[in-house]
Amino acid sequence: MQRSAVILAAGKGTRMRSDTTKVLHKVGGRSMLDWSLALAQDLNCDRQILVISTHSEELRHIANERVGENQIAIQDPPQGTGHAVQCATPALEGFDGAVIVLYADTPLLPADAVVQAFEALESGAHIAVLGFDANEPGGYGRLICEPNGDLVRIVEAKDASPDELAVGFCNSGVMAVHSKHLKSLLDQLDNNNANGEYYLTDIVSIGRKNGLKSVAVRCEESDVLGVNSRVQLAEAEAEFQKKQRIKFMEDGVTLIDPASVFFSFDTQVQRDVIIEPNVVFGPGVRVEQGVQIRAFSHLEGCTVGEGSMVGPYARLRPGAELGHGVHIGNFVEVKNTKVGDGAKANHLSYLGDGEVGERSNIGAGTIFCNYDGYFKHKTLIGKDVFVGSNSSLVAPVTLGDTSFVGTGSVVTEDVPEGALALARGRQVVKADWAVDYHRSMKAKKEGQ
Ligand code: UD1
Ligand code: MG
Repeated sequence: MQRSAVILAAGKGTRMRSDTTKVLHKVGGRSMLDWSLALAQDLNCDRQILVISTHSEELRHIANERVGENQIAIQDPPQGTGHAVQCATPALEGFDGAVIVLYADTPLLPADAVVQAFEALESGAHIAVLGFDANEPGGYGRLICEPNGDLVRIVEAKDASPDELAVGFCNSGVMAVHSKHLKSLLDQLDNNNANGEYYLTDIVSIGRKNGLKSVAVRCEESDVLGVNSRVQLAEAEAEFQKKQRIKFMEDGVTLIDPASVFFSFDTQVQRDVIIEPNVVFGPGVRVEQGVQIRAFSHLEGCTVGEGSMVGPYARLRPGAELGHGVHIGNFVEVKNTKVGDGAKANHLSYLGDGEVGERSNIGAGTIFCNYDGYFKHKTLIGKDVFVGSNSSLVAPVTLGDTSFVGTGSVVTEDVPEGALALARGRQVVKADWAVDYHRSMKAKKEGQ
């Protein structure tokens, strides 16, 4: 059976109390919208129709980038989840197969949970809903089932009787429907409910009246956390982090204090990496085998080559590419800079917009002065170079292979291969100056 996805993202997300549209809030460094689109991709959906409203220009722009104009359905104004799917039906024209409705506020949903809903359709159901046993059912819709497991109807919390509220089996929001029934089911929706909205969930009871069979497929609550508020956003983040930590440890990564390490959706860590406490991985990080990431380091958009040592207190920013066996130590920031195999910058430095050749040593307090207030410039350091402590390398500047920079230099001109550059005041030594100074000052003070 062919598959298409309808992703609902038109709700205002009022409960977030935010100027940012709800589905653009992030979990694990990726917006909830992008989580849903990635899921639709994983499920090999033929069409991915995104339902949005006009209240957010930003969302419209992003939607256009992601799926293109003809897979966007506009719901204006939003009148409920059923109305949202109705708005998507023109974009489903000519499609024959399983339509999966995904709510873009449910970021952790794994593809294999959704596959169960497709399988239920393939085995004869007309509508399949993913349900879960909720710890705290709260505001979720309740799934009312027959003893044989058939789904009779879904009742929203606001419309539920006390008996119905006592049901712990809840609606995840994921629903698969065969395309040939969808339109007629949606046409029969009304908005006689507490919210005055057209609820998608009502197609279950309508379908039953039409002789269609609905089933509920059980999944884990932790897979379908819906995000409506900041508290739920934090809960989804915590759940994501918990899963990532377990996944990495199972893959052979040591986390000394798992609860204090934070990953992104795309973090890659190879085996035998040791990660100390309080480390944050922003998006786009790859860490190769045998690396040690020491405490309180922050990494994003970077690669750490095999056997390297990072931190404690290091910051690797986008474009930092460390080769094998590199050492980046405390209070060192690296941005858009390639660091060759075996090179070291162990203390208090800024390496921005440059290249450091193999085995070069960057002394404590070295700064790549990459910005002139208008443009960024490159600092190119060859192999086996020694940069003395507290030097400023004023870009654009090149230090040739095996060259030396004397401590405390401000280097403004290129240094040829094998040369020594000294760019600092020459030292003057005056014998007995201090002795004379103290004698005369003491005499002056006593004479007062
Ligand atoms: C919905 C379900 C509820 C389920 C819960 C799971 C309905 C009526 N209720 O409630 O049974 O337990 O999800 O998380 O479906 N949206 C639109 N247009 C609209 C309204 C909403 O596109 O007019 C989108 C929202 O952007 C959101 C999704 O649909 O991504 C769900 O809407 P939301 O308001 O969060 O529904 P819930 O109250 O969570
Ligand atoms: Mg919701």
